[in-house]
Amino acid sequence: MVEISEREEELPDVEIGKLLEIAVEHPEIISLGPGEPDFPAAKEIVEHTKKIAGKVNHYSPPGGRIEFKKEIVKKLKKENKIDVTESQIVVTCGSQEALLLATACTLDVSEQILLPNPGYMGFLPTFELFNANPKFIELKEETGYSINPDDVKKQINKKKTKVLLINSPANPTGNVLSRNILEELADIAIENDLYIFSDEAYEKIIYDDTKHISIASLNGMSQYAVTFHTFSKTAAMCGYRLGYVAAPHKLADAIKNTHIYSTVCAPTISQLLGIKALQMGNKYVNKMVKEYDRRRRMLIPKLNDLGITTPMPKGAFYGFGNITAFEKNSKKFCLNMIKKAKVAAVPGIDFGPAGEGHVRFSFATDYKLIEKALDRIEGFLHKYK
Ligand SMILES: Cc1ncc(COP(=O)(O)O)c(C=O)c1O
Repeated sequence: MVEISEREEELPDVEIGKLLEIAVEHPEIISLGPGEPDFPAAKEIVEHTKKIAGKVNHYSPPGGRIEFKKEIVKKLKKENKIDVTESQIVVTCGSQEALLLATACTLDVSEQILLPNPGYMGFLPTFELFNANPKFIELKEETGYSINPDDVKKQINKKKTKVLLINSPANPTGNVLSRNILEELADIAIENDLYIFSDEAYEKIIYDDTKHISIASLNGMSQYAVTFHTFSKTAAMCGYRLGYVAAPHKLADAIKNTHIYSTVCAPTISQLLGIKALQMGNKYVNKMVKEYDRRRRMLIPKLNDLGITTPMPKGAFYGFGNITAFEKNSKKFCLNMIKKAKVAAVPGIDFGPAGEGHVRFSFATDYKLIEKALDRIEGFLHKYK
C-alpha cells in the first residue's frame, strides 16, 4: 500500500471532531461545542442567494472580484481604521485559507512563528504543514489570557522569527487585547522586523464597553500588519466559505499568486453575497451579539458557581473554564461528561498544552439548551467530588 505523507501523519488528532461526531449521532446529547453561530444567515442573504444563483458559474480573479474588494476597502477604512487599496486585499475561502496562504508566503522551513497558547486549534497544524517552527507564547489565566509583550520579546530569535500571530477577540479564551498591549506588540514588530498576523474572526462579537482595535490601524504598522477577516462568525456565513486578508503590497501579491494553486478563487456566489452582507451593515450581527450576551451572562456565573472557574469573556462566544478542582485531564473530563451528563464541550488540550485542565464551553447554542446542559453538568460534578 502506498504510504501517505509524514506531514499528514503528524497532524494532531483533534478531539473536538470526534466529540462533535458523537454529539451529532446522539440527539440526546446537548452540544456546548459549536465553533460557529447557531443562527441562520440573514434573510436578505438567503433571498439574494436565490436571486443570483443563475449568474455565478464563472471563476473570479484569484485576488477577488473588484467590486467586492472596493466594498472591503471601504469597510476596513470605516470600521477598522485600516488604510489599504484594493490590490492589498485577497479574497479567500474563509480566513483559514488566507492563513494557510500567508504562511506559505512568509515562512520558509524552520523559520519561526510565535503564537498564543492556548489558541485556536487551526493555527499550529497550519504552520507545521509548511515545516515552519511554531513557538508558543503562554497566556496566563491570572491576566485574563492577555499577551505579555515581555514574553514575546523573550521568544524572538533575530535570525529565525518572522511572524507573531495574535487573535483578538480570542478563541478559546474570549480575551480582547487592549490598545496598550497592541501598541507594545506593534513596537516589537517594528524593532524586530516581524509580520503580525492579526486574526480578527470575531471582531464584532464583543460585549459591554469592550472595543475591538485592529493592530493594522496603529502608526507604522502598514508594512507589518496582515489582517485576517471572515464572514463566518459575524455574518453567520460559515458554509459560504468567505474571508479575506489585507496585507502589505508585496505580500498581498505573493498570496494572490499562491491562491491560484490552492483554490484558484473564493466562490463567485459567496463574493457577491459578501458585497450584500457588507452593504447591510451591522444590524444582524448586533442582534446575534445581544443574544450571545444574554447567554454569556447566564452561563459564566453558573459555571463559576459550580466550581469551574471561568473568566467573563470580553468577546467571541466561548467560556474557557478551569476544571482542575475536579480533574486535570481535559479529554478524560469531556469524555466522562458526554457519557454521564450527555453534554459535549471541547477539551482545553485541543487548544495547546497551556489549555490542559480547561474546557471550552460554547454559547453558540440555544439559551434553554444551555440551561438544561448546566443542570446536567451540576449533577455530573456532584458525583465527581
Ligand atoms: C480564531 C479563528 N480564526 C479562524 C477561524 C476560521 O474561520 P473561517 O475559515 O471559517 O473563516 C476560526 C474558526 O473557528 C477561528 O475560531
